[in-house]
Amino acid sequence: MAIESSATAQSVLHPAGPDASIIADFAWVLFIGGAVIFAGVMALMVIAARRRPEPVNPRRWIVGAGFAFPVVVLSILLVWSTWRSAELTPQTSKGAFTVGVTAKMWWWEVRYHDPASGREITSANEIRIPVGRPVYLGLTSSDVIHSLWIPALNGKMDTVPGRVTGLTIQADKPGVYRAQCAEYCGEQHARMALHVVAMAPDAFDRWLANEARPAATTAGAPDEQLLERGRAAFLAQRCQACHTVRGVGGESGNGNVRLGPDLTHVGSRLHIAAGTLRNHRGALAGWVADPQSIKPGARMPAAADLDGETLHALAAYLEHLK
Ligand code: CUA
Repeated sequence: MAIESSATAQSVLHPAGPDASIIADFAWVLFIGGAVIFAGVMALMVIAARRRPEPVNPRRWIVGAGFAFPVVVLSILLVWSTWRSAELTPQTSKGAFTVGVTAKMWWWEVRYHDPASGREITSANEIRIPVGRPVYLGLTSSDVIHSLWIPALNGKMDTVPGRVTGLTIQADKPGVYRAQCAEYCGEQHARMALHVVAMAPDAFDRWLANEARPAATTAGAPDEQLLERGRAAFLAQRCQACHTVRGVGGESGNGNVRLGPDLTHVGSRLHIAAGTLRNHRGALAGWVADPQSIKPGARMPAAADLDGETLHALAAYLEHLK
């Protein structure tokens, strides 16, 4: 399931969905209109400064340029923007694919509904969506106010503790769209990114079905011994006290009170640590060994007592969890 990361675009100038296109139109009309009017005013000023003083009719200028012109321009803008705003997708889960997103200091918990079992599937820092259909994101926060901004797909929406806010996104074509927390939320606000991966509907269904399965076992893998050692290190380090890996044991009964991201399928994600590092074995090892030098203030403690080989095995195991 190789996904081209170079397609990543965090840009309001490259809208990839219907609502983002409307917002981009607004921005261009305001920018070009403002630039034209500014240039016109500057030109009038130059003309006025260069010509000889001669009697002008100030009333004509005040009424014409100071009153009539803005009234006409602003009225046109009001009518046009009201008409375009009505085309924005309503923020409702009705008829939309629904995904739950909880913002945390400083990462994103993402929850899907498994159509097969009815259970909730938990992931992190990556929202996968099917292309061509509206996706309703039910947003909340478990600590402070954050804000989800996926510029290529829609405007910003705050996430507020104790409340659910909604945002509907839609991607017109497959791709990876970078998103960012857009409300200052503490030390690692800048490293609170996530990626929206838009997939063809059948690929998305396959991905979701895999996501619903428990973690991959190590049995039969070519490097089974290494992976087994990594799995043992995962349990010995008590990683599962904060991270769920469904199927390795140690899950809490209700399965939802967890400090850190669910790692059941961490190996299939494009990034780790909320968009901070590309996901590969080396990055996983570095992150486990010393997260505080990569993301100071993050809740993840260092695993300082791991020897190099065990660390390598643990990273290989995490990478194996696709
Ligand atoms: Cu979360 Cu800024």
